[in-house]
Amino acid sequence: MSKTLINVIDREGATREVEWEPEQSLMETLRDNDFPVLASCGGTVSCATCHVFLEKPVLESLADRSEDELELLEDAEHYNPEASRLSCQVQQCDSLGGINVIIAPEED
Ligand code: FES
Repeated sequence: MSKTLINVIDREGATREVEWEPEQSLMETLRDNDFPVLASCGGTVSCATCHVFLEKPVLESLADRSEDELELLEDAEHYNPEASRLSCQVQQCDSLGGINVIIAPEED
């Protein structure tokens, strides 16, 4: 697998292109590129601080959310059923090149 370039839109609305390395989750890429993704549970699906929004066709192209992921997302303040994912649960793959990833607002 090769590196994948994606566009990340931060909480201020600024877009930056970053490289998503093979074998990495989206959360790891965001964290490595200094985006404000706390990921306080380290990717074990128990914090929801890695919440992002993806475009609908992208979301539909991914495997379904697990029950644990869905439960956490439904409890999140900014949950959008048509866009929300926990970025620790999305793995790199070539077909995700060029996607836009929006960092969800911080929970109050
Ligand atoms: S890092 Fe905690 S749920 Fe994703």
